[in-house]
Amino acid sequence: MKNVCFSLFFSFGLLFNWVSSQTGPERAALPPRGWNSYDSFSWIISEEEFLNNVEIVANKLKSKGYEYVIVDYLWYRKKVPGAYTDSLGFDVIDEWGRMAPDPVRWPSSQGGKGFSEVAKKVHAMGLKFGIHVMRGISTQAVNANTPILDISKGDAYVESGKKWLASDIGIKSRACGWMHNGFMSVNVKSGAGKAFLRSLYQQYADWGVDFVKHDCVFGDDLDLDEITFVSDVLKQLNSTIVYSLSPGTSATPAMAKAVSGLANMYRITGDDWDTWNDIVSHFDVTRDFATANMIGTAGLLGKSWPDLDMLPLGWLTDPGSNNGPHRTTNLNIDEQRTQMTLWSISKSPIMFGGDLRNIDNTTFSIITNPTLLEINSFSSNNMEFLKIASTNFRKRIVKWHSRGLEASASPILGLTKCAYSDTTGWITKSVDQGLEKICWKANPEHEYQTPFCLYKRGSRVAIDKEAATHRDQVELLSFSTSSVEVCLDATPKRKHSSEAIMRGSFFPCKRHENQKWDLYANGTLANHNSGHCAIVKYKQAKAIPTGVRSWVATGRGGEVYVAFFNLNNVKTVISAKISDLAQALPGKKLGPNSCKYREEWSGKDFGLVSDLIAAPVESHGSALFIINCS
Ligand SMILES: *[C@@H]1O[C@H](CO)[C@@H](O)[C@H](O)[C@H]1NC(C)=O
Ligand SMILES: *[C@@H]1O[C@H](CO)[C@@H](O)[C@H](O)[C@H]1NC(C)=O
Ligand SMILES: *[C@@H]1O[C@H](CO)[C@@H](O)[C@H](O)[C@H]1NC(C)=O
Repeated sequence: MKNVCFSLFFSFGLLFNWVSSQTGPERAALPPRGWNSYDSFSWIISEEEFLNNVEIVANKLKSKGYEYVIVDYLWYRKKVPGAYTDSLGFDVIDEWGRMAPDPVRWPSSQGGKGFSEVAKKVHAMGLKFGIHVMRGISTQAVNANTPILDISKGDAYVESGKKWLASDIGIKSRACGWMHNGFMSVNVKSGAGKAFLRSLYQQYADWGVDFVKHDCVFGDDLDLDEITFVSDVLKQLNSTIVYSLSPGTSATPAMAKAVSGLANMYRITGDDWDTWNDIVSHFDVTRDFATANMIGTAGLLGKSWPDLDMLPLGWLTDPGSNNGPHRTTNLNIDEQRTQMTLWSISKSPIMFGGDLRNIDNTTFSIITNPTLLEINSFSSNNMEFLKIASTNFRKRIVKWHSRGLEASASPILGLTKCAYSDTTGWITKSVDQGLEKICWKANPEHEYQTPFCLYKRGSRVAIDKEAATHRDQVELLSFSTSSVEVCLDATPKRKHSSEAIMRGSFFPCKRHENQKWDLYANGTLANHNSGHCAIVKYKQAKAIPTGVRSWVATGRGGEVYVAFFNLNNVKTVISAKISDLAQALPGKKLGPNSCKYREEWSGKDFGLVSDLIAAPVESHGSALFIINCS
């Protein structure tokens, strides 16, 4: 709290006296809605691809309240061989160490125009333009030791007779955990650090940016000093920029209370991709934020919203990929509807992630469902409703499934000192056609489990002169569902999704030092870059939540919404008593034989409610009832 007070005081104070536009409309009065490039393009989107998508948003989605179009991360990175999500030295920066759009991917930025031409086009289509930015300052700017722009003078920042440089403000020990080579925090306690951040956000406002997604500052990466300062800068700029925080790994209502008033939306989970586990991991945390009254609470010059992340539906790419959209979502239709229903009834911002040039009618109808969009924007009293009953269709199978889950243990890769004796578990096995694999010793607690193995890619034997030890230099491949080969990667910590930890240890093969491993005769596997050794631990798999859930909300026309969610692996009948609903939503005239109801996804009209609302719900599916009482 001390920090918060300190910097609020400081920047309202003597140093700067900017014209403020605080009379503008309330920011994020409703949960923001739009399109974001990440799920379909990873980082590689071009201006043409972006504007094609923007045009479709304008023609087909704007009338449904989709308003923001957002370029996600690394728009400044050159798309050339060797560049990837955590590469170093491929970014376009200006003389003040600020990121500039890659002029090859973003031709209209040439001549120092940044995103201003793109923003103009977006505005001409009646939409709002957003960009993703990382925490602090880039490693590239620190290495180049660029001067810092003082926007009040239009010249280099000078304090105490000293011209301050990027290396004076970058804090190397606070590199972004999942983009270690890319960005680090800046010292916002120094005048130069403040000047640098101001020079960034003033430029975004000058470009015409309406929305900033600030990444690697929240959740496990919390940087409250930077959030506080940026929020303050945004308050004083003559702009209406909506401020969004990311990611949300391990975020809790207690942590969010420190930022909800400073921003307009903030993520409450890790990245959401198109797996059932990712969807399911949102139920509890979303409930906790609803219970803590965090939905639509006061935010930066307006409101703030817990954010469940983009909708990975339709035509997509893979996390962190160097490839554009090339596959359809892995979620089935029931799971897609469940996601849209939960996101809507918990009033999360809705940002569609699929490539709109290739959207199919089913996806389009899900993301434009008028009832859900109405609920998302205008419902109130949104909360989990506990008094529901359920009957499984095949109870015995459910039991069998859950026992199966408890028994399995997933391998987790770790890195440790090579001198430790527990590192010597790797053995080489040959498979067919000259292919070799390297496997970790059997798991003593789960001997029936197939051992954890990786396939050798390149290999050459080296002999160290001093130690005279043989080592086999290898790259290690894992199986991958996509066509991209993924290699075991020792880069410290990746941005991990809600679901997989294991997945974070593999990345598209790049032949860089973090993916090269030395296999020694004593059975250790040492990383070329860090020198640390890989070990495998078997962690008891966290059981995927099953059971049934329900959420309720009330509409602006007096209607009542009840959503049932079936997290079981079998079809389940879910029911709620009208008397229990009446208790949860007093004043709604809910009573037997006085209300009519219909279900949204089936379109079925049920007529008068007697004393129970009940429906069979498909595995991973949902039912959404609209109840109107006289
Ligand atoms: C602030 O923005 C408004 C509306 O965009 C504009 O009319 C005004 O000139 C701006 N003021 C300054 C000082 O830039
Ligand atoms: C998709 O919707 C469009 C517009 O409503 C329609 O013309 C087209 O036939 C539909 N396609 C399919 C495969 O249903
Ligand atoms: C295995 O061999 C390597 C290379 O000689 C050595 O650095 C490492 O400490 C050894 N580890 C163990 C546990 O013997």
